[in-house]
Amino acid sequence: MNVTVYSLHKPPELRTVLAERCGADQLVWIEKSCERIDIDHPEVAQTELLILDCQDVEALDWSAVELFNLRHPQATTALILTGDLDRVLMQAMRVGVRDVIARAELAQELVGVIERAHIRLAAIHGIPSVGKIFSFIPCKGGSGTSFLAANLAYTLGELHHKKVLLLDLDLQFSDASFYITDDASPRSLGDIIRRTDLDGPSLENACIKIGKSTWLLRAPSNPEQAIGVTPDQLDGILSVATQHFEFIFVDLERTLDPLSLRVMDRSDTIYPIMQTVLPFVRGAQRLQRMFRALHYPESKIRIVVNRQGKTEDIPLGKIEEALQTQFHLKIPNDFVNATAAINSGKPLYEIAPRGELSLALALWADQLVGKRSASTHPNSRFSLGEAWGRVVRRMAPGA
Ligand SMILES: Nc1ncnc2c1ncn2[C@@H]1O[C@H](COP(=O)(O)OP(=O)(O)OP(=O)(O)O)[C@@H](O)[C@H]1O
Ligand SMILES: [Mg+2]
Repeated sequence: MNVTVYSLHKPPELRTVLAERCGADQLVWIEKSCERIDIDHPEVAQTELLILDCQDVEALDWSAVELFNLRHPQATTALILTGDLDRVLMQAMRVGVRDVIARAELAQELVGVIERAHIRLAAIHGIPSVGKIFSFIPCKGGSGTSFLAANLAYTLGELHHKKVLLLDLDLQFSDASFYITDDASPRSLGDIIRRTDLDGPSLENACIKIGKSTWLLRAPSNPEQAIGVTPDQLDGILSVATQHFEFIFVDLERTLDPLSLRVMDRSDTIYPIMQTVLPFVRGAQRLQRMFRALHYPESKIRIVVNRQGKTEDIPLGKIEEALQTQFHLKIPNDFVNATAAINSGKPLYEIAPRGELSLALALWADQLVGKRSASTHPNSRFSLGEAWGRVVRRMAPGA
């Protein structure tokens, strides 16, 4: 996608989101204010996503924005503003601006704007969008990694009808394989890992379908199949998976080996999962050191703290200080429902859809698809949209 950004000051949060989300795009910065937008500029003329970082809305070149949108009806235009959005929404809509983002919410909202622009463009060109890889790794054994990965995969498939693959790469214990299903089918990664002619349908055939839109690819059930699996073989599976699924979740073992390193290299985002107890902090620091040694960008790593609310926890702020980063998400403790779900071999969302933990997973799923929250969790008593203080106004018809 051709992305052009008009921004005089190139604020760090804008640079971070674009570096993180537009890695494969053609990104052009025009370091000017939005007072005069040159729509005949060769870069602007080819733009598919135009981002206008507008310091002073009074000075915005509205007529140029309108002309751009008339000439490029397939493009997406997004406006970043400071102050009262409501005042300019109507005007923005009239000139074809698709998204208006409050500067204070820039980091969260722009992600969804970029995601939707990619999807729109892919749909226009008839290209299936390429799936994203998310890996989940425990900072220490028993963090809840497999449980969260499996249940998030299911929640995402159910609530958003996204095609989700859950790849269980815990070759020793395969917990994720049993957290959301009691299907005893022997189909597994072992059936396809050595195939050189793998395609989407044969990958799907090796999986167990769970719910409306989640597929589970189990770790090999016998050790002979698991021995000798190479990173290149795994790479092959991931490449086919990204063509066939929209989201690929990989549940990793705590032990780092060439297989997990290959998965993390290929991942768009890595979620280290921890709890607020000292051994988990040490585990998180160990992973952070490794990520640094591998030169992974900070934006690729999103630490999630699980089982929040237990009384013995160390205060979150202290841990964030020790790790020199902020937690990406805080997931509540819900021992009763988690245990009930595991014991019944069913996804948590089926057992306790109104529980706090299901709600947290629904929010996480919303975040992954860049959508407003309130509409997507029918059982929620809360306005999730309000909870997140979303301020993006999706503007143009068909947005
Ligand atoms: N938010 C939660 N509230 C209550 N219990 C939880 C929560 N998350 C996970 N658990 C429980 O924690 C236990 C361990 O979870 P899980 O197997 O997912 O951990 P893991 O990090 O994958 O560990 P391993 O290192 O063995 O792979 C499970 O019994 C699960 O029910
Ligand atoms: Mg696990």
